[in-house]
Amino acid sequence: MKGVILAGGLGSRLQPCTLVTNKHLLPVYDKPMIYYPIQTLINAGISDILLVTGGNYAGHFLRLLGNGKEFGLEHINYTYQEGEGGIADALSLAEYFAAGEPICVVLGDNIIQGNIRDAARAFRHQGRGAKILLKEVQDAHRFGVAVVEDGEVTGIVEKPKEPVSNLAVTGIYFYDSEVFNFIKTLEPSARGELEITDVNNMYLKRGELTYDMLEGWWTDAGTFESLNRAANLVAESGANNL
Ligand code: DAU
Repeated sequence: MKGVILAGGLGSRLQPCTLVTNKHLLPVYDKPMIYYPIQTLINAGISDILLVTGGNYAGHFLRLLGNGKEFGLEHINYTYQEGEGGIADALSLAEYFAAGEPICVVLGDNIIQGNIRDAARAFRHQGRGAKILLKEVQDAHRFGVAVVEDGEVTGIVEKPKEPVSNLAVTGIYFYDSEVFNFIKTLEPSARGELEITDVNNMYLKRGELTYDMLEGWWTDAGTFESLNRAANLVAESGANNL
């Protein structure tokens, strides 16, 4: 399985900090944000990694990460998303890299306490389709939210105004190579983006979407509030089982 980290976008919710660098290079406690999703993939046994970035400071990633030697990687692959067309648009750039293999996708601002090794193993066993990881949260309206009935996901709503459940869809996804064909059929949402929730709902319609509950704490870090929360969680209890 290959790994894809999506670290594009303009990080406008973190201005003025993101006027001078990429959001994913801002510190979360004692490390740059991007270190955490890289470690998430490595801990799951995934070492063939593509980083999708964008914006004005893409070169900063090279200066920080180089060829990935510090993480024990032989190499890191990079590509560049023009504009901010959404998570699924960023993912579409990984088609050539995936080259038909299954992928684990991690959003560059998602940080976890534990690891996803078991989920990766389960997805390898599943063989096709997609798997999402869910987490109970208090503020579900900020996320993609899943409805689960009798142990199956029956629907996912992106940032519902009224809560449909307290189960956030975390930014960690497993896909087979069909994902790139699904993305090609997407239309931009009301916010002008190709939505990853639409992709997940396509797998759901086909009966090929499974889920696991994510163990340990999980947070995004894309707003000052969540960035601060992420730093406190890392300081208190560490991340990525490190
Ligand atoms: O954190 C999990 C949530 O992430 C999910 O529950 C939602 O379903 C999903 O839509 C997403 O919600 P956000 O609105 O919080 O996503 P955001 O726009 O903050 O983007 C998250 C990461 O995705 C960001 O750190 C970099 C990457 N990204 C985003 C966009 C819009 C890209 O690489 N390119 C993009 O164009």
